[in-house]
Amino acid sequence: MASVKEELESLKEQIRHHNYQYHVLDDPEIPDAEYDRLMRRLQAIEREHPDLITDDSPTQRVGDAPIAAFGTVQHQVPMLSLDNAFAEEELREFHRRVTDRLELEADAGTLEYAAEPKLDGAAVSLLYEEGRLVRAATRGDGTTGEDITHNVRTIDAVPLKLIGSGYPPSLEVRGEVFMPKAGFEAYNEQARAKGEKTFVNPRNAAAGSLRQLDPRLTAERPLDMYAYSVGKIDGGDLPATHSEVLDRLQSWGLKVCPERGVVAGVEGCLAFYKEMGAKRDSLPYEIDGVVYKVNDLVQQRELGFVSRAPRWAIAHKFPAQEELTTVEGVEFQVGRTGAVTPVARLKPVFVGGVTVSNATLHNIDELHRKDVRVGDTVTIRRAGDVIPEVVGVIASRRPKGTKPVQLPKRCPVCGSTVAREGDEAVARCTGGLYCAAQRAESLKHFVSRKAMDIEGLGSKLIEQLVTIDRIKTPADIFRLEKEELAALERMGDKSAENLITAIDASRSTTLERFLYALGIREVGEATAAALATHFGKLDAVMSAAESELVDVPDVGPIVASRIRSFFGEEHNREVIQALRDLGVHWEESEPQQSPADGPLAGKTFVLTGTLPNMTRDEAKKKIQALGGKVTGSVSKNTTYVVFGEKAGSKLTKAQQLGVETIDEAGLNSLLKSS
Ligand code: IVH
Repeated sequence: MASVKEELESLKEQIRHHNYQYHVLDDPEIPDAEYDRLMRRLQAIEREHPDLITDDSPTQRVGDAPIAAFGTVQHQVPMLSLDNAFAEEELREFHRRVTDRLELEADAGTLEYAAEPKLDGAAVSLLYEEGRLVRAATRGDGTTGEDITHNVRTIDAVPLKLIGSGYPPSLEVRGEVFMPKAGFEAYNEQARAKGEKTFVNPRNAAAGSLRQLDPRLTAERPLDMYAYSVGKIDGGDLPATHSEVLDRLQSWGLKVCPERGVVAGVEGCLAFYKEMGAKRDSLPYEIDGVVYKVNDLVQQRELGFVSRAPRWAIAHKFPAQEELTTVEGVEFQVGRTGAVTPVARLKPVFVGGVTVSNATLHNIDELHRKDVRVGDTVTIRRAGDVIPEVVGVIASRRPKGTKPVQLPKRCPVCGSTVAREGDEAVARCTGGLYCAAQRAESLKHFVSRKAMDIEGLGSKLIEQLVTIDRIKTPADIFRLEKEELAALERMGDKSAENLITAIDASRSTTLERFLYALGIREVGEATAAALATHFGKLDAVMSAAESELVDVPDVGPIVASRIRSFFGEEHNREVIQALRDLGVHWEESEPQQSPADGPLAGKTFVLTGTLPNMTRDEAKKKIQALGGKVTGSVSKNTTYVVFGEKAGSKLTKAQQLGVETIDEAGLNSLLKSS
């Protein structure tokens, strides 16, 4: 028993150390796989000895049952707010007030300020007793907050137990919980695709996530935290300046913002403001200004407070990222993949540092959920280099007689049908190759290596040829002549000749490559190959009914309907005919059932990473030859994940789902024994 306890403690210590390296220092020492092994070992021991599980074990973050209601927490030291400065002059006034009270020379430029970003999230108070997190609370009204311990425990950046030594026996840490930009965007994108409600901005996302009764919901949100001060402490002592206090918090395992600094006088503050303003867009989290705090804690005490804000600190705000304006029209744009996106035309408004006159409404569901109408007053948000978006309508300001906006039936660019597949939120133009908006992307796919494989016809050249309207459909590629190519920018006689030779060579292809090249949605290489084998002839694929298509391995009802609607468009059939007339050909064969009966039949493989001795394509051919299926994504239906070097998320997912993973040697012995 003694040795089990020892191992348990050692594992907890190691995991805490690696959490610190990873989350606080952003400098992991060991690969994720090794970390996972430590964690799994700890879980296994705890499963066997449930009596040894403690609240501060790294395994105890998630999984608590929902609570019935939030308890309240009295803040023994009030959680204050900050005064704001918007203009430089307001900051100079603040500095004069501070130096006057401290009886210092305002212009001496010697008073030290700790300068830090003003994080745009939700304030929290964390109480550590003997180094253990015992309570977490919201700011509330500054005096009374809500107990959100169950939720805060799920945030990886918050240590459940402090590391190192010398922390006060009772230590209240304060900081900001926030949702990093990438997590916020990804969360909203998913919500939009599922037709669910999105978050208005990262601050609401953080605050909303902390106010969940069910901690399992909070655990799914990508939250992070930076500590920015201490509240009540009992026993122990802290350094004499704010910046050193933060250093100390960091050494105990708390995460602090890496962008902080110590500056001298008001000029130092202004330089910091400028620097952060320039960095703002590229920071991984949202900030709405910077905060300056008199660095010396004795001076802070001397300055004291007025009502709800300290005299020793001020927030210097950046220009607003949200403003009001009115909608002058709603138009629909067609993207490179055919997605039809509603866009609001706005009365120009200055927001996030630029004048904005268009804002995205993302998709038709989102448009209807927000019910944005022409004439409405709306909130516009422009955060950094993210496309400006309509956050919502001010309902009370809606004029009389407005009407809901409808999705157009036809593509505004090419006139093809606009369709929505199943419950997808995105509406798409079905014009494909025919639609000018989608042309360049479809053509790049058409000439790519696994499709028609036309060497020398790169993205830049395609874009050039599409722009001057020389190529409208793939058929036009086979109408190009050497002289006109040689006359193009950055093209010589020799490269023009090489390109013509490559185009000529590509005329002789295979049915599977040709089908793949057409760029039918959901028809990847594997499906194209299965179609070619099953039907043998293009005409048979083109005229196949959905009921015949679903007989092909790999083709389900959705893919079948995509294939049908592609060949149902007359202009797609015309392009195919033109290609054949221009000499694109392949060997047709008799219809053939795919090898559904090989020794690997019924087994599904996913390949990931670089294998040492064969390409993934080679591995795939070998598996398929024995009747196995190779797909692109890991699910619980996957039989094996074959991994090589630099394998990424697919391998992780396999491990999470408990799918068997094998390396190249494992695959070889499987192939041999089959
Ligand atoms: S110090 C007495 N530092 O801004 C000082 N606050 O308006 C109180 N905030 O509720 C806070 N970043 O949630 C401080 N680096 C930072 C901050 C910060 C964001 C928030 C905090 C507070 C609000 C004050």
